[in-house]
Amino acid sequence: MDTAVSYGNEEAVGRAIAASGVAREELFVTTKLWIQDSRDGAAEDATKRSFDASLNRLGLDYLDLYLIHQPFDDYYGEWRAMQDLHRQGLIRAIGVANFYPDRLVDLIEHNEIAPAVNQIETHPFFQRSDYQEQMTALGVQIQSWGPFAEGRNNLFTDPTLTAIADAHGKSVAQVVLRWLTERGVVVIPKSVRPERMAENFDIFDFTLSDEDMARIAGLDAGASLFFDHRDPEMVRRLSSRKYT
Ligand SMILES: NC(=O)c1ccc[n+]([C@@H]2O[C@H](COP(=O)([O-])OP(=O)(O)OC[C@H]3O[C@@H](n4cnc5c(N)ncnc54)[C@H](OP(=O)(O)O)[C@@H]3O)[C@@H](O)[C@H]2O)c1
Repeated sequence: MDTAVSYGNEEAVGRAIAASGVAREELFVTTKLWIQDSRDGAAEDATKRSFDASLNRLGLDYLDLYLIHQPFDDYYGEWRAMQDLHRQGLIRAIGVANFYPDRLVDLIEHNEIAPAVNQIETHPFFQRSDYQEQMTALGVQIQSWGPFAEGRNNLFTDPTLTAIADAHGKSVAQVVLRWLTERGVVVIPKSVRPERMAENFDIFDFTLSDEDMARIAGLDAGASLFFDHRDPEMVRRLSSRKYT
């Protein structure tokens, strides 16, 4: 489960977990700290309050993964609080999202614990292969958000992806998820439809050839289809967005 304070759905996710009857240890639950939530007083205290509130809304007594949602404001204070919560056993792993290489290295250089994960936009049109190599060297796992580019650029009818999918008797969605998985990218596709959720899990009975991989590599345009976290206007917009 991948949720966040800013999605406004932690309570609903908590109700679903409670109703599922699935044992807690079989679930992997991630949530994310929003920018303004560390502003209410010192970042370290405010982060711990925001974390407690998330845990309450989710109805859990520990988290599997807690992420800093955006690389803005006092994320050093946030990280120090998260290191404490991790040491106390309240979070199994701590990480970040949307960090570009310079910010990631800076965070690692000045703290004790390196992020376990960096959740970043990664899909066939923005592949992040160079950055993935750097992250791997730093011991940080790349996790893709927007694995289908949320359908942008006509991903689901892209001719290259469709041809590869047809050759394997699979769907475009399955080819994309398989491609990411074979690259060692952790992937969290979103669907509200049970049949698509099942389809998205069903990627372990085929492999992509070197030629398939090379053709998909050719789709990389090397730029975000959403927003650049280094664009000043975007920093302003995200920083002024209050979700809770
Ligand atoms: N950290 C961040 O800043 C950040 C930013 C954005 C997203 N995320 C997270 O990333 C995860 C991925 O979600 P996303 O919103 O980025 O989108 P995504 O997974 O790239 O795409 C979701 C879209 O694809 C459709 N879809 C899903 N499976 C499909 C299939 N098998 N065939 C055809 N269409 C399919 C969905 O429609 P239906 O729902 O109708 O099936 C939905 O429209 C989520 O957990 C999200 O919270 C994180």
